[in-house]
Amino acid sequence: MAVESGEEMAETVTFAREGALAVLSIDNPPVNALSRSVIEGLIAGFDLFEKDGSADGLIIRCAGRTFVAGGDIALFDNPAFSAEPLNALLDRIAASSRPVVGVLFGTVLGGGLELALACHGRIAAEGTAFGMPEIRLGLIPGSHGTQRLPRLVGLAEAARMISTGEAIGTEKALEIGLIDRIADPMDGAAIADFVGYVASRGRPEPAPLQGRADQEVLDGLRKTAAGKPQEPAYRAVAEALAAAIERPFAEGAAIEADWFARLVPSVPARAQRHLFFAERAAASIPDLPKESPTRSVEQVGILGAGTMGTGIALSFALAGFEVILSDTEQSAIDRAFEGLSDALGAFVRRGRLSDEAAKTTLARIEGAVGAAALASSDLVVEAVFEDMELKLAVARELGSLCNPGAIIATNTSTLDVNAIAAATGRPGDVIGTHFFSPAHIMRLLEVVRGKSTAPDVLQTILRTARRIGKTVVVSGVCYGFIGNRMAEVYMRESEAMQLEGASPQDIDRVIEDPAFLGMSMGPSRMLDMAGVDVGARTVIEWVASGAGPRDPAYRALCRRMYETGRHGQKSGLGYYLYEGRKALPDPDHSALCTGLAAELGIARRKHFPEEEIFERLFFPMVNEAALILEEKIAYRGSDIDVAWTSGYGFPRWRGGPLFMADEIGLARIVTGMEHYAARGGDPYGYWSVAPLLRRLAEEGGRISKWTSQGGRP
Ligand code: NAI
Repeated sequence: MAVESGEEMAETVTFAREGALAVLSIDNPPVNALSRSVIEGLIAGFDLFEKDGSADGLIIRCAGRTFVAGGDIALFDNPAFSAEPLNALLDRIAASSRPVVGVLFGTVLGGGLELALACHGRIAAEGTAFGMPEIRLGLIPGSHGTQRLPRLVGLAEAARMISTGEAIGTEKALEIGLIDRIADPMDGAAIADFVGYVASRGRPEPAPLQGRADQEVLDGLRKTAAGKPQEPAYRAVAEALAAAIERPFAEGAAIEADWFARLVPSVPARAQRHLFFAERAAASIPDLPKESPTRSVEQVGILGAGTMGTGIALSFALAGFEVILSDTEQSAIDRAFEGLSDALGAFVRRGRLSDEAAKTTLARIEGAVGAAALASSDLVVEAVFEDMELKLAVARELGSLCNPGAIIATNTSTLDVNAIAAATGRPGDVIGTHFFSPAHIMRLLEVVRGKSTAPDVLQTILRTARRIGKTVVVSGVCYGFIGNRMAEVYMRESEAMQLEGASPQDIDRVIEDPAFLGMSMGPSRMLDMAGVDVGARTVIEWVASGAGPRDPAYRALCRRMYETGRHGQKSGLGYYLYEGRKALPDPDHSALCTGLAAELGIARRKHFPEEEIFERLFFPMVNEAALILEEKIAYRGSDIDVAWTSGYGFPRWRGGPLFMADEIGLARIVTGMEHYAARGGDPYGYWSVAPLLRRLAEEGGRISKWTSQGGRP
């Protein structure tokens, strides 16, 4: 039937008879999401099935590459959105006197799984994934999933699926009773046989749910919810599942509906929807057509087998690439292989990889001494020390030894990718790939597009990043690119406040407190872990190059810490004193701050309101982001949110720094910036408001939605 969808008529659901059975077939590429048209089509199709009394049963299936992979997330932002029409249909399906079965394959997620749960029987292909990912969008299942899933598979399994959002496979689904049989979805005879079986078994009585074990599961859910007061979806999971075992279906469904309606417009849910779309948008580049040509990448060479090189090698090997890992000395290669074995061992221990898969992965990596071994690689990533002279020498060498057409990537965290590209003599082949540590675990890959990077090189890296499971953000060339450039102002203020009298623990506490921000780690603990020496050396070089700030107090604290051997966790001393990994307040650090403040003529005070700590760290970051957008270093505000949530531990339920800034209100941030500028005199322009930020604040625009409308960074 044709179903109206907006302006167009779209044929997304068809009703047909196949012998004695009726078939509802959904065809809504790419993933058969439950759009309005699909829901209306299903309702109209089910009406036809009810009218057609001669059909013995109904099969619900999908065309294309998957059964329904979920709801249409974009619908949730429509104020008129309601789950009611779909839910009423699911009740009718469940109550049908004739058997209704779902034929499942691909990814059966969220609303797709709820549709399947309303059927009387489920048959699925080998290799199907089943999940309730709503929690990752700050939601709970809203079409009776919290009521039907525990009744079908028991509370413990349902709680695990709904509270983690993790998918399960076909074998597990069969074991817990989520599906009845495994069969090829194209095998008509097997499916007809299954419908007969479902008709003959009648409706099995759901097992009684109340019990001691269930109470423990509920207690666990409530404890998790209590630990995440900023994420109300966890409380909703606990309450909806409690209702599933304590109350009749209709009452439980009403509790689910009530929570769902409250959660959909809540800030954490809007924030995570923003990120869902932001992550998809980030890989599309305004002046790079989707179908741009790519270069072939099969063998990857890594130069520099240190912390980053080793993690990068593992990322590629895990995705099936052949990798050559090269360094100047055999001892560095040996150390790298110890690291690789440890990392793979950890994957095996956590059940993320089989022993066999770990061995195959390791076998894909070959060690080599000297760069010559990389001559035949399609992509070479250099991850040598962050030292410009060395990077330039390595670039010259790679430029002449790599195959024509091979891509040369630099993993620098702050250096000028254009200068490195020029040194290769083939700048079109060069791009920056800024991985995050540990590279085989962190999801973010900041891709740095040089001024001469060839379009097919950029496109190849974007595709390759997807193959190795990374979330990408594309940055133009500037000091620190997107992420570290913003982190720089954040570190600057953290250190400035320490010289003025705030302690590292005061600052970290505010930043880690979910009531303020909820970062996984505050600035001082973060730099102690990454290495104060690494951070300080970068700052020292930046300032020495003349491109950095002229302020003599600029990050004076970390520079002094570097000189005095306080290199962070690895040296036992940094912003904190370490007992193993435990960070303790350190009176010597406080004395160092007092002394340095006196040298620099900085007045100290005892009291730092939490509000001030938060504003002084957060507002200049947002301002820096506005500059990054104005300079077209980033294409969109949402890219910046992706970088911070995937690479810097910014909480996803905040949607990223710019989504959070929009929620705080840009006008308040501008006023705050002006307040601090007036208070300190602002000789170095740290607090001068970016024109884009001011304009958006005046117009009531949202910076997280801002895009540069094309053009190169
Ligand atoms: P690292 O010090 O752990 O490793 C560097 C490796 O490069 C060493 O094994 C060294 O022997 C090797 N090397 C030096 N010169 C070489 C040459 N001419 N040929 C071959 N190998 C050579 O350093 P790390 O931390 O792995 O950093 C590497 C790069 O990654 C730097 O540019 C750094 O800024 C960047 N980076 C570091 C991050 C981190 O968290 N550590 C994060 C993102 C980027």
